[in-house]
Amino acid sequence: MNSIISVRKNYDSSRALRIRKNVNKKILRPKINIKKQVYKSLELKGQEKILDVGCGFGDILEYIHEKRPGCKLYGIDTSRAMIAETRGIKAIFKVADAQKLPFKQSTFDIVIAKHMLYHVANIKVALNEMHKVLKPKGRLVITLNGVPDKTQSQIEYYRKMIGKIIGSRLIPTSARINTENYDTFIDNAKFRKIKEIKFYTYGNIKNSGLLLDYLSSFKEFFMPIPKDEDWRKALNEIKNNIDKQIQTKGSVRITRKSGLFILEKIGG
Ligand SMILES: C[S@@+](CC[C@H](N)C(=O)[O-])C[C@H]1O[C@@H](n2cnc3c(N)ncnc32)[C@H](O)[C@@H]1O
Repeated sequence: MNSIISVRKNYDSSRALRIRKNVNKKILRPKINIKKQVYKSLELKGQEKILDVGCGFGDILEYIHEKRPGCKLYGIDTSRAMIAETRGIKAIFKVADAQKLPFKQSTFDIVIAKHMLYHVANIKVALNEMHKVLKPKGRLVITLNGVPDKTQSQIEYYRKMIGKIIGSRLIPTSARINTENYDTFIDNAKFRKIKEIKFYTYGNIKNSGLLLDYLSSFKEFFMPIPKDEDWRKALNEIKNNIDKQIQTKGSVRITRKSGLFILEKIGG
């Protein structure tokens, strides 16, 4: 339960999420824009009713509206602050939980759950809700991260180092549901698998400030949430380590695995 409170704090504004998105965009290659990949995979005709669950600040709905203004778009998120930031986007937004969707059975042609299921307390309940609000043969699009690559990504190494310094533990996200185990959460009587795409990207950070920004966006994912003073001390400590690595090796390597899964609703 405490981990839910920490996650909520991280999304109390879009700041941390925007930092992670910007660093990923700047550093990771090949350039893969998951928002555009999801849009492409939807193969929209232009009139569909679409729900984005855990919509964040609404960027994918904004993108869909630009491309397909005839679609009817809905977004929900538990974060009031995120929903407030969707102002101006042509969609209906509500503060709500994936585990209790405020829509009737068989409402949507498409439901999107983009990089959010790992934050939900009861993933199976959320998937049942998504199944419920989909029309028969409606499609569920899920995106997730892969299990962090311990040998290649040094982000894990630095996150562990921060944890040790502050005496906090990082909340497991990708360890709960990821591109490798996601199908153990899927009820095969409810969903049929249609498509699966996996992405692997990597990059080298040469600027310690950028890496520190990225690492600092995970602050609230440590439990208990570190005090500001302890957090600053920890970041200072690892800054020395990062600077040394950049001086001797030229950069810090980061990798990211992710996946996009399309499922079709079975049943009414
Ligand atoms: C990593 S962000 C992804 C946001 C957006 N889908 C994207 O891809 O940019 C996860 C989002 O899920 C939301 N979230 C977490 N738990 C949730 C829940 N139980 N129900 C609905 N939204 C939730 C968070 O508030 C946050 O906005």
